[in-house]
This record gives sequence, structure tokens and C-alpha cells, in this order.
Amino acid sequence: MTILVAVRGWKPDHWIHALQEAAPDRRIVLPGDAFDPTTVRYALVWKPEPGYLATFPNLEVIFSLGAGVDHLTTDPDLPDLPVVRIVDPDLTGRMTEWVVLNVLLHHRRHAHYAAAQAARAWQPLRQWAASAVRVGIMGLGELGRDATRALLSLGFKVGGWSRTGKQVDGVECFHGTEGLGPFLARTDILVSLLPLTAETENLIDRAVIDALAKDGPLGGPVILNAGRGRSLVEADLVDALSDGRVKGASLDVFASEPVPPDSPLWRAPNLFLTPHVAAESDPVALSRYVVGEIAAYEAGRPLRHLVDRGKGY
Ligand code: NAP
Ligand code: GLV
Repeated sequence: MTILVAVRGWKPDHWIHALQEAAPDRRIVLPGDAFDPTTVRYALVWKPEPGYLATFPNLEVIFSLGAGVDHLTTDPDLPDLPVVRIVDPDLTGRMTEWVVLNVLLHHRRHAHYAAAQAARAWQPLRQWAASAVRVGIMGLGELGRDATRALLSLGFKVGGWSRTGKQVDGVECFHGTEGLGPFLARTDILVSLLPLTAETENLIDRAVIDALAKDGPLGGPVILNAGRGRSLVEADLVDALSDGRVKGASLDVFASEPVPPDSPLWRAPNLFLTPHVAAESDPVALSRYVVGEIAAYEAGRPLRHLVDRGKGY
């Protein structure tokens, strides 16, 4: 039985090597290889060509090699098979690092100090305690919950917003459309870790930006997005950074990736930009995860971390 690896935009060599180490008894193939499509039972994919997965008649399980699955749910010909996504401490830990780093960059006024250093200027600013700052996490899933844990341990006041009601120790939880307004009104630093769905597309627009707290110690709100770029209306953020309604931002994901050279995002004030690297999919860690899930499935245990195709995540 064959495992197919189809990763568009990533170097496949590391995946092949890591998978062969994790599953030496399996045949691992890439789309360009010579193989019989009827032998493929598992497909490990990142942004496969739409329609490609429908060409494997004996495929049983599709593994998204990332936590997000919008690269699959947008395929109109996606076979009606279980889709398993990544839930692994390696990926989760990387995202929590990005969230903590970027919350601290803004909380500790790093843009100001970097500019002051470049100008050889000694310009201390007043520094507030973490406990004076309210962070609000959009998405209390695998990644959002881990980020809240780390932020709470640093002393931040943490709130969270999800689709359905949640209880997370130490976190002020909100949910649904009715919970969004109160959640935004208590948030100084907004962190989006939302999946891209019909409901979350263009969610963070001018109205959401203007509903964030304005009475916090940073002098105005800060916005971080490492969920998906199309959840944020980038033009609305650029306007808000330019006229000072938003004091800073950090973006890892974008409506169009790579960000086009003429995008105003490159020059927006107090915007930290990373090229979709917040939580990279590590071939070694994630091959171990997938091979473990396949072994459990073949031993008759139920598949975990299944995507709900109706919800889109
Ligand atoms: P997850 O466990 O499925 O959690 C998703 C969270 O979003 C859940 O709490 C869910 O609410 C909430 N949500 C979904 N739709 C919503 C809506 N309409 N309104 C309010 N809340 C909503 O996903 P995850 O593993 O945490 O990953 C989240 C996303 O991070 C991925 O989908 C991906 O887009 C992104 N990501 C980015 C990177 C990167 O490198 N930048 C890396 C990995 C993942 P419920 O709990 O009520 O269902
Ligand atoms: C990366 O963006 C992922 O979804 O894992």
C-alpha cells in the first residue's frame, strides 16, 4: 500500500526522507513518480491541485499537512473521505512562540526602540505591567488555547472568542455573533487564530477594528493575525494604522501570498510582517504524527482530529 505526498510550494525531499524514516515498510510516492494510482490508500497533502485527489480510486484517508484545511475545502472535487488535520505539540508550540513574541513586541514598544536605536537616540517610554493589558484571542481551538496558557503565565488578562461556548481556566470566554461586541470592547491586543471559512472571511474589517478597546495602556488597539489572511480586510487595517486608530500590527498570513511588492502592507507604520512562518509544518515531527495515526487507524482505532466538512474546519 502506497502513501502519496503532494505538497505544492514546499520542498518534498524532506517529507520523503522523514516519512521513509518513520515508515520504512511503506512505499512513499510523489505526484511525478511512476506508480499505480489504485495502490494509494493515504494522501498527505498541502495545497494539492484541485481535482487531483479525486484521481485515486482506493484512497481511504486524506491528511492535511497543516492545521488549516482551507487548501482542501475549496476543492470542488474533494473526495468524500475522512480528512485528518495536524494537531501536534511541535506545530502548536511554534504558533504559541509567534503569538507570545508578537504580543511582547507591541507590549514592550519594540518598534519605537528599534527606530530609536537606528537613530542612536536614548528614548525610554513608560512601560506598563502585563496585567494592565487585555489580550483577546479569536479562536479557542488547539492553537488558541495553548496561546492563552502562555499569555496567562506572563500575567496578561486574556479573553477568547469562539463559535460555540467554551470554558477555559483564567480566560474570559465569549462566543458567537452576540459575544463578539463585548469581546472586542475588552480587547487591547487582538490575536486572530481563526480558520478560514465562509463565516470568518473578511470578518476583521473596519467595524471590528473600531469596536476594539480604546482605553487601554497602549493608547489604542493592536492587531495580530496568524490564522488566515482572508479573515482580515487588509485595506481597513492599513487605513487604521495610517490614521492612528490602530497602534500596531503583526501579520503572518495574507490575502495573497507572497505579499505583492506594491502592497501598502510593506510600508504600513508599526506593522511587523512575517512570511507565513508562524507555525511551520516540520517534516520529522509531522511524519511521526501521521504515521502514528495511520498505524492506529489500521489497528481499528477511530481517526482523530477529523475535519467537519460542514463547518469547514
Ligand atoms: P481549531 O482547533 O479547529 O480551532 C478553531 C477555533 O476557531 C475554534 O475555537 C472555533 O470555534 C473557532 N471558530 C471557527 N469559526 C468561528 C466563527 N465563525 N466564529 C468564532 N469562532 C470560530 O484550529 P487550530 O488548530 O487552532 O488552528 C486555527 C487556524 O490557525 C488554522 O485553521 C489555520 O488557518 C491557522 N494556522 C496558521 C498557521 C501559520 O503558520 N500561520 C499554522 C497553523 C495554523 P469552536 O471551538 O466553537 O469550534
Ligand atoms: C499553516 O498555515 C497551517 O495551517 O498549518
